[in-house]
Amino acid sequence: MLDHPETVARGHAVTDETAVRLEGVTLKLGGAEVLKGIDLLLKPGRVLALLGPSGCGKTTVLRLVAGLLAPDRGRVLVRSQVVADAASGTFLPPEERALGMVFQDYALWPHMTVAGNVSFPLEMRRVPAARRAPRVAEALARVGLAAFAERRPAELSGGQQQRVAIARAIVAEPGIVLFDEPLSNLDRELRETMIEEIAGLVAELGLTALYVTHDQAEAFSLAHEVAIMRAGRIEQIAAPEALVDQPATPYVAEFLRLGAVLPVEPGADGWRLRGGAVIAPPEATADATQVLIPSRGLSFCAPGTGTLDATVLRSLFRGDGHLATFELDGGHRLQAPVPDRLAPQTRVGLHVPPESLRWFSSPPHSGD
Ligand SMILES: Nc1ncnc2c1ncn2[C@@H]1O[C@H](COP(=O)(O)OP(=O)(O)O)[C@@H](O)[C@H]1O
Ligand SMILES: [Mg+2]
Repeated sequence: MLDHPETVARGHAVTDETAVRLEGVTLKLGGAEVLKGIDLLLKPGRVLALLGPSGCGKTTVLRLVAGLLAPDRGRVLVRSQVVADAASGTFLPPEERALGMVFQDYALWPHMTVAGNVSFPLEMRRVPAARRAPRVAEALARVGLAAFAERRPAELSGGQQQRVAIARAIVAEPGIVLFDEPLSNLDRELRETMIEEIAGLVAELGLTALYVTHDQAEAFSLAHEVAIMRAGRIEQIAAPEALVDQPATPYVAEFLRLGAVLPVEPGADGWRLRGGAVIAPPEATADATQVLIPSRGLSFCAPGTGTLDATVLRSLFRGDGHLATFELDGGHRLQAPVPDRLAPQTRVGLHVPPESLRWFSSPPHSGD
């Protein structure tokens, strides 16, 4: 049997594969425990997204990696080097961690030209002026702003300003770039263009990136792996496809809007929705308190011929189809995309393939 490479190669081989690693990191801010034990590993050449609602601790993780905060417990490693260790008191300041950073608000200096802004990290590293100019020009060319070097940030659009911030993050060739919601100040259309641009740059430059966002589409399009965060903890880390196929917890399923998470109970004739219909045979799972009915597994049929019967409450137009809300007989609600508008009060049957169900044995909304 082949061992997993990580278990074989304890020691150097493991750390050589480390671009960024957090081990058991906790942190209190203003008396509240903001991070409650974070473990994560970002390997060279990979993109890891931290995805979660506002206030869950994403920016705090980035600030710890950047060296703007120190952990109360645990360690932070960058390029296999321990840059912060609460136990030993080790702490490297930001300028010794050689990381590029891109923030939501761009953080450009308004009084400096675009070239001046991009040049700044090189000045910090005492790169001589003659060697700075070509590198600045190259970084600006990479983000399509070669012609804008002498402008001030205020003379650029939001998208262009964010590209300046990206040029500044890559000019010193740090290899590892931290992104904190870089696109959240841009309108939707521009955001989609910029996702592609960032994906292109990351691939072209072989960047390693830790990418913070609350936007699932952004995380899923850019990252090899996504860490779903909730209230200072990582709920699950996996590739986007795996998160969708196998959400580890009801929270992940609900956060990613994969379908309806409903309470279940065992009955003589099989597993039934609490107070509702049987949805799977007794052998479908050994133990469960909740089930995910994924909306992508659902299909519709005549009432009385499927797994569940339901009444349409409403259906909202969503550009590429409708999102319908159903009330299942027995009282639970469920939303699913439908191709055509369904009139309120329409009776429908829902066919739920038993193999599409995902069972959870954790109690609802526990873990905080
Ligand atoms: N300097 C601070 N002092 C006290 N609380 C803070 C400070 N910075 C952040 N927090 C709190 O820590 C939590 C996580 O914040 P943050 O990491 O910014 O979340 P996110 O980036 O996911 O929105 C929030 O509840 C926030 O209010
Ligand atoms: Mg934040």
